[in-house]
Amino acid sequence: MTPKDLKAIVRTVPDFPAPGVQFRDITTLIGHGVGFAAAVGHLARLAQAAGAQAIAGMEARGFIFGAAVAVQLGVGFIPVRKPGKLPVATLGVDYVLEYGSDRLEIDPGAIAAGERVIIVDDLIATGGTALAAAALLRKAGAVVPTAIFAIDLPDLGGAAKLRADGIAVDALMQ
Ligand code: PRP
Ligand code: HPA
Repeated sequence: MTPKDLKAIVRTVPDFPAPGVQFRDITTLIGHGVGFAAAVGHLARLAQAAGAQAIAGMEARGFIFGAAVAVQLGVGFIPVRKPGKLPVATLGVDYVLEYGSDRLEIDPGAIAAGERVIIVDDLIATGGTALAAAALLRKAGAVVPTAIFAIDLPDLGGAAKLRADGIAVDALMQ
């Protein structure tokens, strides 16, 4: 399936989580076996082209795509977690979301110095989550050249923010 085919199986839910918001919902994409496999295949090709030595994905939806991409490429997966979940001393960062604020944490021991880590997530909106993840991964010694998303919402400006921070951005659909 092409990215255009995949776009047709992303569900749009009006007025979630707030009135006036058109929520792009991946539930229907990942529930479509052929579509999910095609999306992961496209993302994996982009990650491989970016020279991925490891994949990082953000809890929770980033785990779905990121882990699948890592398996497809045969590289390790680095979970970027919501706070209080990892059983070791973590590196953390607080960040602002489209609908609130949150914190991300990683295990710094999961990253080798100079490792080329590619970020994979389902969607980029304001870019706050991906920028925070990139900052954390870099603090732990990773090189983060590229971030890859199933969906980019360009009107929210996230991809432009990442590019301004020196991170190349790829997405399967807008
Ligand atoms: C969503 C999405 C991205 C982020 C995008 O995750 O999966 O990670 O928001 O928004 P941003 O570009 O404005 O930061 P969310 O924090 O809703 O968590 P979830 O994956 O647990 O649903
Ligand atoms: N869909 C899914 N996640 C999101 C969205 C959206 O439209 N905006 C911010 N996070």
